[in-house]
Amino acid sequence: MGYQEAYEKLEKYGQLHVLQYYEELSEAEKAALVEQIENTDLDVLSLCQKREELNPRGTITPIDVMRLDEIARRKEAFTACGLEAIKAGKVGAVLLAGGMGTRLGSDEPKGVYNIGLTRDVYIFQRLVENLLDVVRQADTWIPLYIMTSDKNHEATTAFFKARNYFGYHPDYVTFFMQDMAPASDYQGKVYLEARNKMSTSPNGNGGWFLSMMKWGVADQIREAGVEWLNVFAVDNVLQRIADPCFVGAVISSGSAAGAKVVKKNAPDEKVGAMCLEDGRPSIVEYYEMTEELMKAEDAQGEPAYNFGVILNYLFRVKDLEEIVAKKLPLHIVEKKIPYLNEKGELVKPDQPNGYKFEQLVLDMIHELDSCLPYEVVRNYEFAPIKNKTGVDSVESAQALCRENHIPL
Ligand code: UTP
Repeated sequence: MGYQEAYEKLEKYGQLHVLQYYEELSEAEKAALVEQIENTDLDVLSLCQKREELNPRGTITPIDVMRLDEIARRKEAFTACGLEAIKAGKVGAVLLAGGMGTRLGSDEPKGVYNIGLTRDVYIFQRLVENLLDVVRQADTWIPLYIMTSDKNHEATTAFFKARNYFGYHPDYVTFFMQDMAPASDYQGKVYLEARNKMSTSPNGNGGWFLSMMKWGVADQIREAGVEWLNVFAVDNVLQRIADPCFVGAVISSGSAAGAKVVKKNAPDEKVGAMCLEDGRPSIVEYYEMTEELMKAEDAQGEPAYNFGVILNYLFRVKDLEEIVAKKLPLHIVEKKIPYLNEKGELVKPDQPNGYKFEQLVLDMIHELDSCLPYEVVRNYEFAPIKNKTGVDSVESAQALCRENHIPL
């Protein structure tokens, strides 16, 4: 793409301000900007105005959850089934670590955050240690795929390397990068983060398999005979990964996927709840929970939407290509976006100042015919770190680690 085509593309989307510093740029900077304009999907920006109408929901009804008592009864058989699949190399793990972790307020990748009190305990380290438990149990390495983004790829890969992958076998660790999306003000005008660069932000955790395909990692997976992928978030330091009992339960149930869920601690807790939507598995977000849904009860008189997802899903590889071929819904999320002010100075706002555009992994569940919601004990498996203090914070995660006898 040359300057003229870049100009026309920006004009088409009402974004000509992106070229306001163009004449001041060096030749290399000009080329970088034109390249970014070529590679950025500006179409999404026009959706700002239609934010409210974007993702209409179908009819929400309750879904059956596999509860702790049933899991305890069938634990031995499930675990044997899961271990068999893991030993046969059919299970891989995907760490979604492309997010910006803006709420935590650190400029480094979230996984690099040290939650130790008397020693170093990095978030990445906790996750690797948890996966190593299963590696020992199954006596085999489990391929670990780590999604990063343009913003944290170098820092993440260097961190793992410098710390010898926390004891993981480097041959079984593969990094790949997700795509970026433009970030805009509330009117859909893309921000600039430098005179020759539009503000961009990772395009959500829903693009993970598409990015795996782009990077040739999906081919590797197929060639290696991996049939199931356990996708999980970076921020839950009690995350059980490639958990044999969970894997076995999903395989034994004949479901296309599985989702670990916890009992919600209040009807309005800020977690998405598993449900059926027009008869297919789905997740109703906490901000979509109406009074009626919050008060609804099941046949046993318990809240009907009482189980929240913890971003730990098991997907069947063969379904994933079909899922990504369909266009997942786009979510427009309010965020703090660094931008150049009128004086051309970089500002890092402390309040949200615009939108970023994301696809979400939870929407992949709705594309499937079935998904097994699998209950886990909240205090054993769910210690998310979103904030520095308060709810879902470094502090609350440290307390939960202590409760689980993890030295910090
Ligand atoms: P969050 O929804 O907590 O987003 O991500 P975030 O960007 O990390 O944090 P905030 O909202 O800015 O504070 C949930 C999981 O999805 C991953 C995150 O790394 C985390 O594991 N994620 C999120 C991605 O991999 N890519 C993205 O574009 C967004």
